[in-house]
Amino acid sequence: MSEDVEIIDTVSVIATKRDGGELTDAQIDWVIDRYTHSDPGAGPSVADEQMSALLMAIFLRGMSRRETARWTQAMIDSGRRMDFSGLRRSGRRLVTVDKHSTGGVGDKITLPLAPLVASFGVAVPQLSGRGLGHTGGTLDKLESIPGWRADVSAAEMIAQLERVGAVVCAAGGDLAPADRRLYALRDVTGTVESIPLVASSIMSKKIAEGTGALVLDVKTGSGAFLKSEQDSRELAETMVWLGERAGVATRALITDMSTPLGRTAGNALEVAESLEVLAGGGPPDVVELTIALAREMLDAAGRPDADPARHLANGAAMDTWREMILAQGGDPDAPLPTARHTEEVTASQDGVVTRVDALSVGVGAWRLGAGRALPGETVQAEAGVVLHAKPGERVRVGDPLFTMHTQTPERFAAARAVLASAVTVGEDSPRTTPLIIDRVTVGA
Ligand code: URA
Repeated sequence: MSEDVEIIDTVSVIATKRDGGELTDAQIDWVIDRYTHSDPGAGPSVADEQMSALLMAIFLRGMSRRETARWTQAMIDSGRRMDFSGLRRSGRRLVTVDKHSTGGVGDKITLPLAPLVASFGVAVPQLSGRGLGHTGGTLDKLESIPGWRADVSAAEMIAQLERVGAVVCAAGGDLAPADRRLYALRDVTGTVESIPLVASSIMSKKIAEGTGALVLDVKTGSGAFLKSEQDSRELAETMVWLGERAGVATRALITDMSTPLGRTAGNALEVAESLEVLAGGGPPDVVELTIALAREMLDAAGRPDADPARHLANGAAMDTWREMILAQGGDPDAPLPTARHTEEVTASQDGVVTRVDALSVGVGAWRLGAGRALPGETVQAEAGVVLHAKPGERVRVGDPLFTMHTQTPERFAAARAVLASAVTVGEDSPRTTPLIIDRVTVGA
């Protein structure tokens, strides 16, 4: 037996990290592989309680860039990698570019963005998720369109990318399966908000997905995963670094999530607002972020001169949206479902709105039935919150601040309890935070 074979056992891996040491590449490969594939013939597997202890040690001690890169690679290697390098349209190779948002309240940007970018002849393979807790999921939103389905096979995905250009669908179970198990464990062990764990979780899926370029929308503020700008910046820099070293041209925008995006939070309500954007209208903040991300994606795809605002104004993005929805069984002309019950939350004083807290609005929409508390729960397509006042707007006593929508009116009281304190009204105009706070590129 060679002298340099490393003998690894789970307890010593945990203890290394607990004591502030660095894990070796072999330790990382071993622990991810044995946790994901517990084949009885392949030696000891890593139990949930052991992985929980290791995750907490990583949460408290952090990981170096080298460890984070290896952890990411081990999660990629736990499953299959997709390959879009053969995509063709009219005999020409199609470039692929994807966007990932770290999640926020009212964040419906993928809906107008994917068809908008695809309308320029760039392929957008958008593997998306479902919502958990106060942040919504893109698939839940699209599933409010009658007939639309999220499960698309790899062959259907490739055919749709070549024909339509955009596909938004669920990631297959064989894409970074280690992340799937680890994410579920992190969710119940208080270990989600760790920069190396979030960065490796997101980037393992994006690199395995096989996109050529990636634009990240890293949220910061009360409605985001990471509340401080410093943490969000570190997350953005880590993910850009991970993407570039894996050969994916990656850049990030750091964007404000202290206020909800647009005027809706909730599945069908957000689809309706996205349709306004695709029709050339919509709330200014949603339009601004859609165009900024589209510019980054088109630039990353080698189309720096493309003008996304023009394709929102002239209907080209809407045409691609319709094709994208039809291709996945949806009816783009069917009326969206609407809630049987609505109630208003009104202003209790005159003045200027100085704050609309994103987290409170997200929790309000969730309590109305728009989100789920546990994976697998069903969501109400119709439920959510419509915002009538955004920061800087004047209100008088009795004016509506929110309209709550639900199928189950017994939910109103719990949602009202959080929404009643979501808005602050004052005398002066609020200090305005720019929506797009910074841009992170490799080496920046
Ligand atoms: N989204 C992910 O996919 N993973 C995380 O860890 C956090 C957000």
